[in-house]
Amino acid sequence: MVNIAVFASGSGSNFERIVKAKEGREASNYSVKLLIADKKDAFAIERAKKLGIKNIFIDPKGFSSKFEFESKIIEILKMEAIDFIVLAGYMRIISSNLLNEYPNRIINIHPAYLPEFPGKDGISDAFEAGVKETGVTIHFVDSGVDTGEIIYQERLNIDSEWDLNKLKEEIHKIEHRIYPMVLTKLFEKGENK
Ligand code: GRF
Repeated sequence: MVNIAVFASGSGSNFERIVKAKEGREASNYSVKLLIADKKDAFAIERAKKLGIKNIFIDPKGFSSKFEFESKIIEILKMEAIDFIVLAGYMRIISSNLLNEYPNRIINIHPAYLPEFPGKDGISDAFEAGVKETGVTIHFVDSGVDTGEIIYQERLNIDSEWDLNKLKEEIHKIEHRIYPMVLTKLFEKGENK
């Protein structure tokens, strides 16, 4: 069993899906031990409470540097025996402290078909660009912004009738379907090594 911690800054709909897929036995080889949020009002925290998942808000402002902030996170992850970190709408760049502690063990989901439209506005950037297709990418996290090794990608055709909200809805549908599945597959591989 792989112990995971999910990091989120916002709504947490992907976090909830990852937990529920596990409960629904769609995904069976991981255990969601912990939610870490860097924003006090992240709705992900409310979801964690409802789901009965341990949740911790860590205020970055309470630390003198990013190194100190991540050191605190590492301390908590060690206490919970976390094997993998799963980012789900975590709006902060991970630095070398955490990356070195969890090499190739931090995963992110990005709402575009990387390397197209990296950055924090992947959905609206694709929409504004007027492209005919976009997608979703699940990748390992490295020191760049959305540049780590790609684990899985899926394409989505953008219907010319869609507005931005409809595109967001369709992207989220894909995310919710693939994130638990891809994590399960990845952990299976790891276990077979
Ligand atoms: C998702 O679109 C994800 O791709 C991006 O942030 C969003 C998080 O949504 N990294 P939610 O908080 O899981 O609802």
